[in-house]
Amino acid sequence: MTITAPTAPNITEPSLYLDGIPHERFAEIRNTDGLMWHDYHDGGFWVVGRHADVKTVSKNGTVFSSAVGMTNLWDLEADAIEARRSLIDTDAPDHTRLRRLVARAFTPKNIRLWEDTVRDITVDLLEAFIAKGEGDWVEEVAAPLPIRVILTMLGVPVEDAGYLVELSNFLVEGTGETQSIPADAFGNTTDLRLLPFNSPASHALFEYGEKIGDLRRQNPQDDLVTSLVQAEAEDGDRLSGSEYRNLFHLLIFAGNETTRTALAHGAMALADHPDQWQRVLDDPAMIDSAVEEVLRWSTPVLHMRRTTTERVELGGTQLEAGEKVVIWYASANRDETVFDDPFTFDVGRVDNPHFSFGGGGPHLCLGAFLARLEIQILLEEMAKRNIHLTRTGEPVRAPSNFVHGVLSVDMAVEARS
Ligand code: HEM
Repeated sequence: MTITAPTAPNITEPSLYLDGIPHERFAEIRNTDGLMWHDYHDGGFWVVGRHADVKTVSKNGTVFSSAVGMTNLWDLEADAIEARRSLIDTDAPDHTRLRRLVARAFTPKNIRLWEDTVRDITVDLLEAFIAKGEGDWVEEVAAPLPIRVILTMLGVPVEDAGYLVELSNFLVEGTGETQSIPADAFGNTTDLRLLPFNSPASHALFEYGEKIGDLRRQNPQDDLVTSLVQAEAEDGDRLSGSEYRNLFHLLIFAGNETTRTALAHGAMALADHPDQWQRVLDDPAMIDSAVEEVLRWSTPVLHMRRTTTERVELGGTQLEAGEKVVIWYASANRDETVFDDPFTFDVGRVDNPHFSFGGGGPHLCLGAFLARLEIQILLEEMAKRNIHLTRTGEPVRAPSNFVHGVLSVDMAVEARS
């Protein structure tokens, strides 16, 4: 293929993200006519940075497939695609069937049933942090909160939260350039290219999921793992062994890493913009719009990939079938044609159609209501205690072009009466 399109500035180098999202590069991409082409070691991809184009791709899962080349930036061999495929890497009708097996647990009505659990977990963590007065916000609050919630829903012992957060951190490492653990870590003997995120931690997570799945098969409980292993849709459909373990893996990873990132960036934004936090304290009705702004501001997932299944025009560029297209939420969420002053953190933002949960369409984040509830309750409990956060250190960011991760950030907390 001869590419005549303009070449995009480098936005894939993981170390770039150690200083935050390279927003000026994304602005150049958004403001260039047509789509830009990005070289990558396995060939390259089309960069989709404008809000409208991200929406077009997200909404049309038939033309922009999640299954053909899966949703990661890099290309995979056919056997790796099959071994790694989970809900997020399928198209209809497989996607419709799999999603139906889990969707019920995540409807707004069913998520609201977890409100007291989320609040109890939040209050425990917040009170402990206040008692200490300062510490690493990620370790003390942002990481434990979502993992404890998703584990409680799944029916996984909360004592294992630390271990599962550690595994998630190793998965994120797999999206960077170096992994700190050897290929045979956790007793892994599977070729890394067959494991999600190329990480031996995926083997550990699969093993963990299988163990708890076996326990629930023998002794069913009122929890999500039980409903997954027993999953029966109206037509008597069941999850296969590999569907179950990949879904368990996805729920653990997606259910904690992303919300943790939102809670970390949210706290940093409120500490850095005390006037915005004051607006929330003065008018708690503003919490709803503050939650959406925290989501837009933090953009925990930076991109997803699709593959074209037919010839199609996108953003002023003609694409052929079989081309790699990468949609960048990090860019769409700062699109100056959609958001007024996109680089201003504004908790009262009224029109806020951010794409932190995806650009709409079939794969729209399954956990969106849960994530919103977690952020909302944290803000409510902080406001009730008149908490003021100040930063006492710089964040340590994950060297990843896939998640906007914060590994640690020191904060001091004061609860003013
Ligand atoms: C702030 C937190 C979160 C963010 C920013 C986020 C972001 C995303 C994004 C961008 C997608 C892909 C959308 C697309 O391709 O169109 C996605 C999908 C998904 N998310 Fe989330 N997510 C969050 C929290 C959660 C939670 C708490 C869960 C809980 C279990 C979850 C489970 C999933 C699943 C299962 C999918 C795949 C859905 C499908 O393919 O049908 N996410 N999420």
